[in-house]
Amino acid sequence: MSAQPSPHASLSSPWPATARWTAHGLEIGGLCAADLAEEFGTPLLVCDVAHLRQRAGEFRRAFPQVHYAVKALTCRRLLRLLGGEGLRLLAASQGELEACLRAGVAPGRVALHGNNKSETELERAIGAGLGLLICDNLDEIRRAAAIAARLGRRQDALVRVIPGISAGVHRHIETGTAESKFGLPIASGEAEEAVLATVESRGLHYRGLHAHIGSQVLETEPYLVTVDRLCSLAGRLARTHGIDTELLDIGGGFGITYRSEEPPAISLLARAVDARLRADCAREGIPLPRLLTEPGRAVVGGAGLTLYRVGSVKERPGGTRLVAVDGGMSDNPRPMLYGASYEVVPVATRNGAPRVATTVVGQHCESGDVVAEALPLSADVVAGDVLAVAGTGAYCYSMASNYNRTPRPALAAVHDGDAELWLRGETYDDLDKLEV
Ligand SMILES: Cc1ncc(COP(=O)(O)O)c(C=O)c1O
Repeated sequence: MSAQPSPHASLSSPWPATARWTAHGLEIGGLCAADLAEEFGTPLLVCDVAHLRQRAGEFRRAFPQVHYAVKALTCRRLLRLLGGEGLRLLAASQGELEACLRAGVAPGRVALHGNNKSETELERAIGAGLGLLICDNLDEIRRAAAIAARLGRRQDALVRVIPGISAGVHRHIETGTAESKFGLPIASGEAEEAVLATVESRGLHYRGLHAHIGSQVLETEPYLVTVDRLCSLAGRLARTHGIDTELLDIGGGFGITYRSEEPPAISLLARAVDARLRADCAREGIPLPRLLTEPGRAVVGGAGLTLYRVGSVKERPGGTRLVAVDGGMSDNPRPMLYGASYEVVPVATRNGAPRVATTVVGQHCESGDVVAEALPLSADVVAGDVLAVAGTGAYCYSMASNYNRTPRPALAAVHDGDAELWLRGETYDDLDKLEV
């Protein structure tokens, strides 16, 4: 199998760092995956703590300041763990901000972005002592400046700009092109105007520029072009207006391996970005800004796997085998949203059964409810077997829904032979809690 669980979080393996293939089948965090399914039920999101620490450490060593984008996966234990590894946090909404604050993270270590922040959201963030406000547009700059002035604060702010480049990713997760709804274009002069408005406001303290070009980016070049564009703007701001850009945030989006993708190592990417930043700053004659990044997927994506139990196996005309599992689009909408594709293995050892083309489908009332399409899977999979899907740590649980009144699954963290429930599974009573 091209992507069997490997002993290391290899760049080209979608499996978590501690995933191993043993005589007892798949193990993760020193625990048997089949036992985890038995103990906690299925579907179950399993997170490998060693993998999380490893990825957080790689980013912390590679970049001067790292904000984990909590939208990828949020729960208190995770946020505390990543905070302990030296990462700051990036929230994309008031709900995510509340999650950060309730996890006990110092507000000064949290940044907030979003293209349509409400008055209440801004008031809560600024009032709490938010570290960085990433301003998206002129309306927000005026609103935030007034709120900060009213609260007697001077809020540190970045201005989100559109560098005008394509990161070559799915159009739903591409955010650096002129059509993007996020930020203001450099090319039109709107970005510069927003910086001036920020600098001139009483309530905001302009600290620097922000860009985020998209997600699941597998190349280094788009980040280098982003640095070029941000530095050109910073140079122009310095020369024309005497404005100092202290912080340069190149966003997140660092890609991971789901099947056979080979993203650049973070250390190498960071080295290339740093070299380009130094060269650009020398060219522009500006001091070196502090470089910020905001990884989400690259920290948690590969740390997670989902365990499902097979409920039925069917043959379809043309030789397609359908294997139905007890979850699907409610716990992982990515295949439906982006045509995402995953590695899947049965967790129990097989005795040389051939692998046949299989589509793993969910249990929801949508024909598009697919977990993985046309992948090779052991021919002897039967109802009752447990399957593991790799790379489900990011944008699965956080995008989960209760479609078909399906409770969200539990999240168990595994480490050194111990499993700890970080989030319990929802119950039908939980689903009733909003009824009036
Ligand atoms: C502004 C911003 N920063 C960071 C991220 C994290 O992206 P990723 O999880 O791909 O690293 C996102 C995700 O969309 C984002 O919008």
